[in-house]
Amino acid sequence: MDVSAPEQPVLSGAPTGVGPMAVYRQAVAEKRIVADPAQAAAVERLQALWSKLRHYDPPARLARKSLIGRFLRRKPVDEAPGSEINGLYLVGEVGRGKSMLMDMFFETSDVPRRRRIHFHAFMQETHARVFAWKQENPGGDDPIPPLADRIADEAILLCFDEFQINDIADAILLGRLFEALFERGVIVVATSNTVPDDLFRGQPGRDAFLPFIAVLKKHLDVLVLEAKQDYRRLRPSNDEDTWHVPPGPAAQAKLDAAFAELSRGAPVKPEQLHVMGRILAVPQAAAGIARFDFADLCARNLGAGDYLAIATHFQAVVLDDIPLLTPDNHNEARRFINLIDNLYDHRVKIIASAAAMPDQLYPSGDGAKAFERTASRLMEMRTEAYFELAHLT
Ligand SMILES: Nc1ncnc2c1ncn2[C@@H]1O[C@H](COP(=O)(O)OP(=O)(O)O)[C@@H](O)[C@H]1O
Ligand SMILES: [Mg+2]
Repeated sequence: MDVSAPEQPVLSGAPTGVGPMAVYRQAVAEKRIVADPAQAAAVERLQALWSKLRHYDPPARLARKSLIGRFLRRKPVDEAPGSEINGLYLVGEVGRGKSMLMDMFFETSDVPRRRRIHFHAFMQETHARVFAWKQENPGGDDPIPPLADRIADEAILLCFDEFQINDIADAILLGRLFEALFERGVIVVATSNTVPDDLFRGQPGRDAFLPFIAVLKKHLDVLVLEAKQDYRRLRPSNDEDTWHVPPGPAAQAKLDAAFAELSRGAPVKPEQLHVMGRILAVPQAAAGIARFDFADLCARNLGAGDYLAIATHFQAVVLDDIPLLTPDNHNEARRFINLIDNLYDHRVKIIASAAAMPDQLYPSGDGAKAFERTASRLMEMRTEAYFELAHLT
């Protein structure tokens, strides 16, 4: 499909006509998930948006470009009810089902030009596009309108998972970009752990960011998902555990056994991965399974590229001796977060020995809030359901 094709009518009339509500109810009926009133309320809002999008006709490209078109679009709000609202911002604690609900919405949506993307990846892509535009248009002063045109041509529905603002460069770019996207009729659905008013709070340069918060609140319905529990913490009934506390001879024996079982007794050898012109030593590897000490991976200056290489190269990682992390260990904690994000994204299995359960590993320090998500992921990575997922390379 030519995603840059200018005008494609947004479909009405899906082949099935089933929205997120039906999918949610069916999952409850089949006992794949438990009924949760807060989730049900959120699904209702997603269903309403879903219905609205079936007849959605974004402002035509011509109209948004010409002055007359712009003038004509400035209808009083009561003539176009709800026209200011460009989507939903779904916020809540980790494991509440935000991503699950957004996916139900996205997968049932019959908007042909739609895109679901992790917000972090979107930001990287956006910065790269701005950079490329500046190379191609030396002296050009404003990359935002052409960038917004391009994004809106590619997708009129954008679903962002894990929306967050990391630095001032993002903050400055996003304010104008989102305004331009909303002007072009782009619909945004986002999940986030942070309510808009708390985005980028306490960071230098936040004042410059406040207009963006106002734009978000004007265009997106903010929906707080107060689901009953962190569903990632639901444990399977089997007691064959993958997280051994504390480290020591007993845990080590379990990890030895797990490593041998996973690698089906294949000979164990050191390996080397080539990462961006460097060599990353893997002390023990066999049949696509790697074994490291925590210190090998997180007490040395490794970065996202190394963790990505491990996650794509190995199906499972056996990790020895994860210590308690104190505020002084914030670098180790940050690397560990990065490691687990990569392993999780690629469905790599992890078997570990640690000084504590995941949610007790890094109780305070720089990034301890971000660590909550890591702890939640680690809990999910212990479940049978996770172990059944195929490795994504
Ligand atoms: N009502 C529920 N019953 C059972 N499992 C659920 C329920 N809601 C979500 N889950 C599961 O809990 C896990 C976390 O959900 P997720 O959507 O990733 O949460 P969030 O994005 O809010 O962190 C997922 O594996 C999801 O399938
Ligand atoms: Mg999520």
